[in-house]
Amino acid sequence: MTAITNFCVSSVGVKLIEQIPHLCTIMSESITISGTTRKEKYESLIPQIKTLVQGESDFIANISNSVGAIKHAMNFFWVGIYFVKGNDLVLGPFQGPVACTRIAFGKGVCGTSWKEKKTMMVNDVQIFPGHIVCSSDSKSEIVVPCFKNARPDRSIGEEVFAVLDIDSDKLNDFDETDKFYLEQIAERFNECANVQI
Ligand code: SME
Repeated sequence: MTAITNFCVSSVGVKLIEQIPHLCTIMSESITISGTTRKEKYESLIPQIKTLVQGESDFIANISNSVGAIKHAMNFFWVGIYFVKGNDLVLGPFQGPVACTRIAFGKGVCGTSWKEKKTMMVNDVQIFPGHIVCSSDSKSEIVVPCFKNARPDRSIGEEVFAVLDIDSDKLNDFDETDKFYLEQIAERFNECANVQI
């Protein structure tokens, strides 16, 4: 039996590369994370996110790959984005278990981050007033607002167009290191914010 070394997706579905080499396009998008500390992993991840989205103008494609890269690099329980649509946040690209579709302004950790225009770090979601439970496995959470046309000092007054939401299945899993690097990633999303979602 032929050893399975790789797969590709073609118009006829997923096939072994060895069997249909003429039909395959092998995509080059991939990331490799080095380091053992979370800081080292973020340092390794961020330039790769930049490379991943460079040259692609499609907003959803870039957000999707960025979310996938964070999940792959950091192995968080849930990583996703909610877009501001009217008075709600609406679920966008994510990786992890299925999640709440809509969150109202000011509600839950996500709606609070949107309302207060600041990163929310919650060490224990059970004691956050109004926390919205999407999965009982989620124990701690960080939500980073994404600003349209943000200034470098991330000053108040800029319009929030989305929030980056990350859940952990461990208590107290986020600290200032996560906040620092995830805010940098959220700023990358801002660069594509003028694209119609
Ligand atoms: N816990 C969030 C809801 C979204 S999920 O965690 C994916 C909140 O309280 O806003």
